[in-house]
Amino acid sequence: MKTVLVSSKGGAKADILFIGFFKGGKDLQGIKKIEPLFGKVLEAAIKKERFAGKPQEVFASFQPAYRHAAEVVVVGLGEKKDLKPALLRKIAGKIIEVAGTRKAGKIRVLADTFLGDVLEAKTAAGIFAESAMLASYRFLRYKTGKKDALPKFPETFELVFEDKNLAGELKRAVTRAEKIAKAVIYARDLNNEPANVMNPPRLVEESGKLAEEKGLRHTALDLTELTELGMNGILGVNRGSVTPPALIILEHGEEYKENGTVCLVGKGVTFDTGGISIKPSKGMEEMKFDKSGAIAVIATMGLVADLKLPLRVIGLAPCVENNVANNPQRPGDIIRMYNGKTVEVINTDAEGRLILADALAYCEKYKPDAIIDAATLTGLAHLTFGDKTCAILGTDQKLIDTIREAGEKTGERCWQLPLWDEYADAIKGNHSDINNTGDGYAGTITATMFLKEFVPAKVPWVHLDIAGTAYIGKNNHECPKGATGFGVRLFTEVLSNWSRESFSK
Ligand code: BES
Ligand code: MN
Ligand code: ZN
Repeated sequence: MKTVLVSSKGGAKADILFIGFFKGGKDLQGIKKIEPLFGKVLEAAIKKERFAGKPQEVFASFQPAYRHAAEVVVVGLGEKKDLKPALLRKIAGKIIEVAGTRKAGKIRVLADTFLGDVLEAKTAAGIFAESAMLASYRFLRYKTGKKDALPKFPETFELVFEDKNLAGELKRAVTRAEKIAKAVIYARDLNNEPANVMNPPRLVEESGKLAEEKGLRHTALDLTELTELGMNGILGVNRGSVTPPALIILEHGEEYKENGTVCLVGKGVTFDTGGISIKPSKGMEEMKFDKSGAIAVIATMGLVADLKLPLRVIGLAPCVENNVANNPQRPGDIIRMYNGKTVEVINTDAEGRLILADALAYCEKYKPDAIIDAATLTGLAHLTFGDKTCAILGTDQKLIDTIREAGEKTGERCWQLPLWDEYADAIKGNHSDINNTGDGYAGTITATMFLKEFVPAKVPWVHLDIAGTAYIGKNNHECPKGATGFGVRLFTEVLSNWSRESFSK
């Protein structure tokens, strides 16, 4: 899909014309001027209470005699003061859904009618371009046979903003939005791949290709190097797998070092069977998404390079498969981690924290100003928040607030949980320094307390538990069932505005 910006409603006819309409709107003069016949139809429909302008409500009318398109669709926007970015994303998704079911090739959106009291034109342009691409995403590479029953999404998405003076800034907003959407789609594509395809070696290959394309530095520590370094968190988890593990490292912006260094770390468990502490079979197929954090980091690195952000960013993705095929780790095993601390593996299903621990400790090498990690770490984060927000915890309140604000802006929201020292009691080791699980209570917090033991001293650090947001069980307005690409937009927003003010220490 291509977003095209135009400043006049002229030009060749589209397949559908979309017009925004606020709740209880009475003045149909504007619409009557643009599409006189449709204006009358809408007036009658409103009188007969067929349409009121409630958020996401649609009223469609088909008439080949219409000027702009044979079909005109008005979309309800609710109250003017309530039309915020989150709602506009849903509305953009609705537009794409309608267009998809009609198999429309070219749609025209009168963007000025979708602005309300709060939204700036450039914000709206960005949201339209981004959400339209994301809403029309489908993962179809394993579908054989006829695709007639599937929606067919428009090739051309024409956005009409009448103010010619805005052309420059709108164009910039759309270009940026398209780059972002492409990166999110890249993340979804990698993540929707099943574990028999997307294993650690394949992630090494894919991230290598991306690095080459975008001009990132790429390293992947292999089995031998991980062994030499003593990364027994990563090695221990992967012992039950027949494919080798890797620690993927992508580097951007060495030359911008003086502006700061941020390390992004993502959990890359390409499949989580639970190991010897095996998971119940129901829903286990979803554990192919246990690589979501790693993929969010990899995709973000590509985007950071694309956007040429003036900052040094290091992406680290420890990749393993948590399986029982080879010579797996057992409950009760005690391992010495990369930073020297010892861990008793009480539960082999608490594997994410083991691989992240080594990667977090390894960040020390880069002397970062801050570390942010993303991981599908605990089922409890999913149970607590559903798919609406991730859990955010960390050691630097300012950095947490920076990320939360970015979440509100991008729609990738974060809700904070406490990280008080008292929570460390639960993971005190018996015969080791630390246990890898607590007593079952406050599991999202105790998992984070575990990670904290491995974060280099005095480095501001924030952890995102994306277990609920990384993939969805049913289609929503801007994503079909499956991987969401969560984290790419959030990370990128944070990094795009990075300064000494983003964190406190
Ligand atoms: N990958 C899972 C967490 C998960 C569960 C993500 C459901 C998405 C949906 C993680 O490795 C795990 O198994 N966590 C355990 C921890 C427990 C053993 C302390 C969990 O949450 O049950
Ligand atoms: Mn697990
Ligand atoms: Zn896991």
